[in-house]
Amino acid sequence: MAVLLTERAGPVFHVRLNRPDVRNAFDEEVLAALTAAAREAGSNREIRAMVLSGTGKAFCAGADLAWMSKAIAYTREENRRDAEDLARMLETLDTLPVPLIGRVHGAALGGGAGLVAVCDIAIAAKDATFGFTEAKLGIIPAVISPYVVQKIGPSAARELFLTASRFNAKRARRMGLIHRIVPESDLDSAVDEYVQEILSSAPGAIAAAKALIKDVANRPSADVIGLTTTRIAEQRVSAEGQEGMRAFLQKRKPNWIP
Ligand code: COA
Repeated sequence: MAVLLTERAGPVFHVRLNRPDVRNAFDEEVLAALTAAAREAGSNREIRAMVLSGTGKAFCAGADLAWMSKAIAYTREENRRDAEDLARMLETLDTLPVPLIGRVHGAALGGGAGLVAVCDIAIAAKDATFGFTEAKLGIIPAVISPYVVQKIGPSAARELFLTASRFNAKRARRMGLIHRIVPESDLDSAVDEYVQEILSSAPGAIAAAKALIKDVANRPSADVIGLTTTRIAEQRVSAEGQEGMRAFLQKRKPNWIP
């Protein structure tokens, strides 16, 4: 059985974690498959959004603890290489030029909550549960931490990494880990609403806006004036910028709307 299910629906790339028996916990095979899927989404210009979800009862129970416990027999170097595989996967997802939408149901724990953190838009079912549970297992949320701390801030991270306690969707939304909560039966339609918004926006502008957020985050405004003015100057003379503004003035749809 494939550990990752991928499916194209026109411009939307659906990627589903598929190890339901272990609540979609990930091992090296999943990491490799998900990294490859992310690279596909990043390089195929026909893909305009990627949707990440999980089959069965949960979104993702984090790292496969059976896989991680084997680490005792690994050398320090082998352990580091495993961690680097996870880091590469998260970085590839985090920097995808197309929006990554997380469709979260059931549990998103440890690395599973880390996957939620690298989503641009995360939609969760009402009874979804989250947690950075690593410390309960004697480990730490190390590789996911840059993405998580960026999303939820150091204060919430202090409480949640140190207690390793589980929290609900409302709390996850308040801290910015997720963006919307819906009944589980409405998850697909909520994803589709976001997809429609994305398809009506220019793909190049979306990619540039996403890169912009990373480049200006946590920097003093005075330090980024050169960068922000250059980026808008480039975008407004680009084919997309010209097309978008002209389409508005001519009261027609721009050419990126399918
Ligand atoms: N790694 C490996 N196996 C896992 C796993 C993980 N991270 N999470 C769950 N499983 C396995 C369980 O061992 C169990 O296997 P079994 O059927 O052979 O006993 C199976 O998945 C189902 O788990 P179970 O706890 O019975 O299911 P549930 O639906 O009641 O609860 C979770 C699901 C995800 C809430 C619960 O399994 C859990 O809390 N897992 C730990 C998650 C965690 O802390 N991850 C952080 C890793 S860094």
